[in-house]
Amino acid sequence: MTFDYETEKQNSRQKIAEAADIKQIEAVRLEYLGRKGKLAAMYANLTTLPIEQRPEEGKKINEFRDIITQLIEEKKKDIVSKERRGSLKQLDVTIPGVAHPIGHKHILTQTIEEICSIFEQLGFAVEEGPEIETEFNNFTALNIPADHPSRDGFDTFYLKQQDPSDKNVNLLLRSHTSPAQIRIMEKHKPPLAVVVPGKVYRPDAVDASHCFMFHQIEGLLVDADVKFSDLKGLLTVFLKRLFGEKIKMRFRPHFFPFTEPSAEVDISCYICEGEGCSVCSRKGWLEIMGCGMVHPEVFKAVGYPKGKYTGLAFGLGVERMTMLKHGIRDIRLFFENDIRFLEQF
Ligand code: PHE
Repeated sequence: MTFDYETEKQNSRQKIAEAADIKQIEAVRLEYLGRKGKLAAMYANLTTLPIEQRPEEGKKINEFRDIITQLIEEKKKDIVSKERRGSLKQLDVTIPGVAHPIGHKHILTQTIEEICSIFEQLGFAVEEGPEIETEFNNFTALNIPADHPSRDGFDTFYLKQQDPSDKNVNLLLRSHTSPAQIRIMEKHKPPLAVVVPGKVYRPDAVDASHCFMFHQIEGLLVDADVKFSDLKGLLTVFLKRLFGEKIKMRFRPHFFPFTEPSAEVDISCYICEGEGCSVCSRKGWLEIMGCGMVHPEVFKAVGYPKGKYTGLAFGLGVERMTMLKHGIRDIRLFFENDIRFLEQF
């Protein structure tokens, strides 16, 4: 028998045209080109024909094979590109994109910048000092005697490593920012006015109000005729700018080896306005910073001529200020890196 190739061509064309997806066109391909397909049957049939008919018939089958192979390939490409175009249509370009949140400054950095900028407006420069200090700068030059308890190994982190240039220099992690006073005065002559923000270290057990590392801001102003009233005026302006005009202040006599006279500064609790609440432990007052007039022994240590200058100095704890300002009850929150806390500021 022989096949009617024209009819076969027409039928196969129609089937290929009707195939709507990859599955259907694959079914058509198997029907014709598969191992048990039409083409296989045609080739098998060839062997039943008389020898002289075979070349002619074989040519027709090959031609038929080539035509439908090409048609099927074209149809497949067509289906794939249509499907792609279809999925493009599903892309809704009006949907808002994925937002990649950008971070913001840590609340302690914000406090430091706010405080420093208040002092910059008052004419102070911002300086920094190293966290690894000499025992001389941290204690001796600040008139802190050798037997003072804060010099004890339990209250200061001493470093084993000695300064390679001088075997007699003991190094430590500064326990306050006051050694920066020494560095600044050794480098500059008065008049000078600087604030120094930075980290300080003390071997305290960590709890809600203590950490082995925290931040301070040191202030130093030295000139020919600086008075205690300048200190009071300066800190009054500063604290009112930071906490609001309404707060009241008081200077309580205190002792620091490197200032004389010395005072601690309290502000009326700006939360309860002096009534007494949990932030001020019902006292109505918040202890906020230490200050005083630079001790003559400190001027002596930095080599300033005797009696020529007077100065004021102050120091404050950044964590404590921030906790008071924002009603934060646990210092550990600053360092735990919990986004839920940090995001609030
Ligand atoms: N260095 C003091 C402290 O850490 C604070 C202070 C600084 C007091 C400057 C007076 C003058 O407690």
